[in-house]
Amino acid sequence: MPALPPPEPGDPVEAVDTPALVLDLDAAERNIATMAGYASRHGLLLRPHAKSHKSPELARLQLAAGAVGVCVQKASEALALADGGVEDLFVSNEVIAPAKLAALARLAGRVRLALAVDSPLGVQRLAAAVRDAGTTVRVLVEVDVGQGRCGLAPEQAGVLAAAVLAAAPAGLTFGGLHAYHGGAQHLRAPAERAAAIHDSARRVTVALESLQRNGIRCPLVTGAGTGTFIHETGTGVWGELQPGSYVFLDRDYADNEPAPGAPRFEHALFVKSRVISEHGTHAVVDAGHKAHAIDSGMPGVWGRDLEFGNGGDEHGILTRRGAEPLPALGDTVWLVPGHCDPTVNLHDSYVVVRGGLEHGKVHALWPVAARGALR
Ligand SMILES: Cc1ncc(COP(=O)(O)O)c(C=O)c1O
Repeated sequence: MPALPPPEPGDPVEAVDTPALVLDLDAAERNIATMAGYASRHGLLLRPHAKSHKSPELARLQLAAGAVGVCVQKASEALALADGGVEDLFVSNEVIAPAKLAALARLAGRVRLALAVDSPLGVQRLAAAVRDAGTTVRVLVEVDVGQGRCGLAPEQAGVLAAAVLAAAPAGLTFGGLHAYHGGAQHLRAPAERAAAIHDSARRVTVALESLQRNGIRCPLVTGAGTGTFIHETGTGVWGELQPGSYVFLDRDYADNEPAPGAPRFEHALFVKSRVISEHGTHAVVDAGHKAHAIDSGMPGVWGRDLEFGNGGDEHGILTRRGAEPLPALGDTVWLVPGHCDPTVNLHDSYVVVRGGLEHGKVHALWPVAARGALR
């Protein structure tokens, strides 16, 4: 692609061309430290989800802060992060295609690898791939804890875990239960989130009883996201937390009403945009939904009392909410993406800044290494 000159380390943030995906590294580091401190105070393992950032650099910061490894959702994400030096990966999703399983089984020769399963066929195919590769993979049986997406009924956990154990000669080890409730993360009221996770815990307990009936000990229950981890903690059932979005705190998460006593995170991911057209009634910025994902709604406008309206793929339309005047032609406007994961996936790299958005400097450009890792 014929490129405009990229930002250089040391450039003032003011000089970063728009639209740009900007990571406020100081804020991200504070978020990483806050979550790591929380997990350690509660005696829980932390395995952040890398689907949010898709970046080996950010994964390494999480590991340095105490994470035991990271989660990924796709085989190709696992490969991209392993190539970036991450050595402990959990694919927290079902993989059924033999070609992908073969690649993952080979990957297990160079990193510690775990995978979720929710079917006998999944176990059978994984066992065949691992046997062929001569490697070892830790397997977590996924239980549907309320979302009605992947995961088997809790009563069936014991039978599937027995199938995993039976595949020990092929190289599978039983790692426990994967129990994540995606649908609970953005319930706005803490009481609603608490109730959903209370029910998830009941379902995990049924799964644990099913393991017991089959004479199987459960080494670990893993799950939880940014919206609910405080509730999983409270149940005493989960031993490992998988939050991802806390690194960035997107607009959708900021709209959650915080649970009393929950750690607070701050916005660390922005799309820098610029007013390219101004009309008294509205101002138009150069960042539409090619620059930020809108599946969870429009971005927030950071530090300004302005409404962002959808102007299509290349534009955003800013209008006043109150007395604050519209920005002028050429002004910078910082957008807080509605949903961080798919926003990151739209960009080749992060412009990583230190010293704040107003007066800071470009620290580095970090590639979004697992950008487009859909397979
Ligand atoms: C299995 C799993 N664990 C953890 C997460 C992290 O959730 P969040 O980004 O909401 O913290 C996700 C997000 O989709 C997920 O699918």
